[in-house]
Amino acid sequence: MKRILTGIKPTGDQIHLGNYFGAMKPFLNLTKQEEDSEFFLFLANMHGFTQTQEAETLKKRSLMILKLYLACGMDPKKVHIYNPADIPGHAQLNRVFTCLTNIGTMERMHSYKDAVEKGLLEDFGMGTFCYPILMAADILLYDADYVPIGKDQKQHLEYARDIAEKFNRMYGETFKVPEPLIQESVALIPGIDGRKMSKSYNNFIGLLEEENSMLKKVKQIPTDAKAIEEPKNPDECNVYNLTKLFLTPEEDKELRNKYEAGGLSYKYAKEYLFEKMKETLDPIKANYNQISDEEVSKILKEHSKKANEIAEKKIKEVYNKIGFYL
Ligand code: ADP
Ligand code: TRP
Repeated sequence: MKRILTGIKPTGDQIHLGNYFGAMKPFLNLTKQEEDSEFFLFLANMHGFTQTQEAETLKKRSLMILKLYLACGMDPKKVHIYNPADIPGHAQLNRVFTCLTNIGTMERMHSYKDAVEKGLLEDFGMGTFCYPILMAADILLYDADYVPIGKDQKQHLEYARDIAEKFNRMYGETFKVPEPLIQESVALIPGIDGRKMSKSYNNFIGLLEEENSMLKKVKQIPTDAKAIEEPKNPDECNVYNLTKLFLTPEEDKELRNKYEAGGLSYKYAKEYLFEKMKETLDPIKANYNQISDEEVSKILKEHSKKANEIAEKKIKEVYNKIGFYL
């Protein structure tokens, strides 16, 4: 039985199509396809706290992201969904790894180097500096085999592998060395302006976006000046690049043919995108509104107990090996 583990960070007030196709859907598909695996998904609130430090906002964002995973079809019978706040092991292992990690290793992380280059160290918190250490603890505590992550998290996973190997060398075989799972095909979902969809570019369409606002954004997508009759290259059209995410292979083939044959208006292409988007997002919105905060808290509490049993055992083993027990 393989263990597949990932963390979801509550960041913004909106979860967008980039997050959905880039992170949520690949994970949910895995949970549906892999029979011989168990799934762990935890709320990375201790990571979110590096940016979101207002209590009510952090809570609101945490509930929203968990509810959205459930609304998108995550089955709590198949996935352990837990909260590290109920599991001391995350912070305990974080401490152990902190002592075994040199400053130079953290200084080589992209996010730190970026902050140095841009002269932003004043606002670069210690939580952000040590972020990869906590992330390694999250993963190694549970002996995960595979870790689904975005491309941007690759370096963090390499550190997690290194620290697992270092500990194993120093104290004997203790941690499994995890493998990343990066979905290359959906690695970069474009925003309405063609750049990577991101909260920071304000070019996103939210999963819970109101219909009117969604329509307005679709209409804003820039297109070229080709006339209706002219053949068009779908791959160069941002309307197509977004639409294809929602299509079956047959629908995709049909739409590509329409672009290439000529006779397709961008007005039609945008209406089609809007319709397809609604087909996917309407049921998600409806499910979302059915899930109560209490339901989410109850799932977390129950599952955290189970996760804590695993974590406690691992911490005992670690503390024993490093000489903490007398
Ligand atoms: P944002 O760029 O909007 O701040 P986050 O950094 O919070 O998004 O992303 C959370 C997750 O969603 C990450 O795993 C990331 O890889 C994925 N993700 C975000 N935007 C995109 C995108 N445009 N294309 C593919 N994946 C994305
Ligand atoms: N750093 C991840 C992100 O920004 C979230 C995360 C925290 C995570 N701990 C993890 C992902 C452990 C996988 C495994 O998306």
